[in-house]
Amino acid sequence: MINNIPKHIAIIMDGNGRWAQAKGKKRTSGHKVGVERAREAVETAVELGVESLTLFAFSSENWNRPKEEVSYLMELFIIALNREVKTLNKHNVKLKFLGDTFAFNQKLQDSIKKAESLTAENSQLRLNIAANYGGRWDIVNAVNGLLADSNHVDKINEDLLASKLSTADLPDLDLLIRTGGETRISNFLIWQAAYAELYFCDTLWPDFDSKELQKAVDEFTRRQRRFGLTGEQVKEPS
Ligand code: FPP
Repeated sequence: MINNIPKHIAIIMDGNGRWAQAKGKKRTSGHKVGVERAREAVETAVELGVESLTLFAFSSENWNRPKEEVSYLMELFIIALNREVKTLNKHNVKLKFLGDTFAFNQKLQDSIKKAESLTAENSQLRLNIAANYGGRWDIVNAVNGLLADSNHVDKINEDLLASKLSTADLPDLDLLIRTGGETRISNFLIWQAAYAELYFCDTLWPDFDSKELQKAVDEFTRRQRRFGLTGEQVKEPS
């Protein structure tokens, strides 16, 4: 069975620091180029007709990086958001942050709120930026949400739990990409990745251009997704 274009793609954008260091530059210059590749990934997703693109911009563990790198990233997110929000809006992209964004400084929280409300009614592409996000956090948060509704819930099932995850209103995750040579999920969308196709490549994120994304999508369309069935069961009738 040939797959169609994935409805929902998520990307772990890894390798900025190594890319910069290999060029004898500071790690932060890799992040700066990384933002340009994120922009390119959004443009490509729009061109391909993808419904939802989720980018892992900052994990709950990234706070442990050197202080200067964390501050640089915060400043970069503010600048990128403020610079891109009008263009996103013009292209009918709905921007949403996934994660515990209350931990960010006020300036970044304000930029996030502004960007989310400006683009709230858009429908061409859902662009989700996972920031201070962790998959276990997402699940615990969902369970706490259900407990808070405990008057109405006496037994949890998968649909109920999924309805409280940060991705509740998004299509199922079809394709999870990780650049930079590591073959781990690193606590990203762990519930949502249950049936996703995984794509790992050695390309460092600042080199992951639209051709590379197209390559990943092409591979997805060639893979057979069985969802627990046998190969024969999922074959298209001849
Ligand atoms: C991974 O490279 C990147 C990050 C930890 C986060 C920063 C991501 C960007 C700046 C890309 C654009 C983001 C958006 C959506 C605004 P790394 O530092 O882990 O690289 P390394 O593995 O080589 O050290």
